[in-house]
Amino acid sequence: MRSAARYRDPRSTLSASLLCVLLTAVTGVHGLSNVSIDIPLAVATGTTVNMSCRYDLQSDMLYTVKWYKGSEFFRYVPKEMPPIAVFGDLGAKVETNQSDANRVVLKDVQPNHTGKYRCEVSGDSPSFNTVMVAGYMHVASLPNGDPQLRIEKTRYAVGDTVRGNCTVPSGNPPANVTWTVNGTPVNSSFTLKIVDKNDNQQQMTIAGLDFETMQDNFRNGILHIVCQANVFHLYQRTADVLLKEERPRLASVLGTRESSYIGNAAKNTAEYFYITAITTLLLCSLR
Ligand SMILES: *[C@@H]1O[C@H](CO)[C@@H](O)[C@H](O)[C@H]1NC(C)=O
Ligand SMILES: *[C@@H]1O[C@H](CO)[C@@H](O)[C@H](O)[C@H]1NC(C)=O
Ligand SMILES: *[C@@H]1O[C@H](CO)[C@@H](O)[C@H](O)[C@H]1NC(C)=O
Ligand SMILES: *[C@@H]1O[C@H](CO)[C@@H](O)[C@H](O)[C@H]1NC(C)=O
Ligand SMILES: *[C@@H]1O[C@H](CO)[C@@H](O)[C@H](O)[C@H]1NC(C)=O
Ligand SMILES: *[C@@H]1O[C@H](CO)[C@@H](O)[C@H](O)[C@H]1NC(C)=O
Ligand SMILES: *[C@@H]1O[C@H](CO)[C@@H](O)[C@H](O)[C@H]1NC(C)=O
Repeated sequence: MRSAARYRDPRSTLSASLLCVLLTAVTGVHGLSNVSIDIPLAVATGTTVNMSCRYDLQSDMLYTVKWYKGSEFFRYVPKEMPPIAVFGDLGAKVETNQSDANRVVLKDVQPNHTGKYRCEVSGDSPSFNTVMVAGYMHVASLPNGDPQLRIEKTRYAVGDTVRGNCTVPSGNPPANVTWTVNGTPVNSSFTLKIVDKNDNQQQMTIAGLDFETMQDNFRNGILHIVCQANVFHLYQRTADVLLKEERPRLASVLGTRESSYIGNAAKNTAEYFYITAITTLLLCSLR
């Protein structure tokens, strides 16, 4: 038995290697390929995050999967028992019973877990390929409250400038603010990011609106001003206000069609009486 095995072994190894070399040379087929990482762009502080690393081993066996954020924090080695090992602060956040060769689950993530994550996959024989891929994740502290909109006054004539501010409670990163006036985007006149006195990792956003109104802006005499605050897709809130068009009172006395019609009617009536009176006088004098 032994001698037979010893006799057969070198030949089968040789033919397997040859086959592999031939396949690689002729068809381009090799081991580990198509490695990709899938991590969220942004998550909220304190949440649990699924991160995955996919790959196609083809003819290879898996040797290791390692995850790094700067330094290594997770390792999966199928040949070891247990296969999972974790390292450092971030390793302590790994839900090991939900993590495996393709997935790492991190619990209670914090803003300092923002950064670049790398997944490194190594195949075993016959190719011994190693491929590393990376992705970036933001861990955001979301604003604790809604945006607040303050506008100078509530009534505007055409040509007036609408001035106001939108203030978003502090967060990390600070919220982005966008304005719309009756649905049309308008740029902020200024944007301030103010560091929170109690937590210097967080910033409040104040954005200004400075918008000169034109006749076309009013829709049925109304301006609908909306301030929208965003932190990625995680926080999207709006504050809005309806402003009224103020029609100058002078116009209703002089310019409108209605009043000039009344004036003409009165004039016509006066003329009619005048002509009637003259006609009557003429008729009387003719008699
Ligand atoms: C690579 O993987 C992605 C999904 O993970 C798949 O859509 C794609 O078809 C794969 N490409 C190859 C060449 O296998
Ligand atoms: C993480 O994955 C598990 C299992 O696939 C799923 O039940 C859970 O909803 C996922 N969590 C997130 C935050 O995507
Ligand atoms: C996974 O581990 C956590 C603690 O780390 C535990 O609370 C949970 O019950 C475990 N889940 C399973 C399915 O074993
Ligand atoms: C990250 O922040 C948490 C508190 O939010 C802290 O306990 C931890 O030590 C920090 N980790 C590092 C590596 O700075
Ligand atoms: C908006 O903020 C600026 C800068 O803080 C301030 O000068 C201005 O008075 C504010 N305007 C309103 C309407 O609150
Ligand atoms: C808003 O700002 C962008 C870039 O700063 C500029 O290209 C665009 O013309 C501005 N839009 C308005 C309505 O002022
Ligand atoms: C704010 O907007 C910029 C430009 O669109 C974007 O790159 C950035 O990610 C946004 N920040 C947040 C916190 O949503």
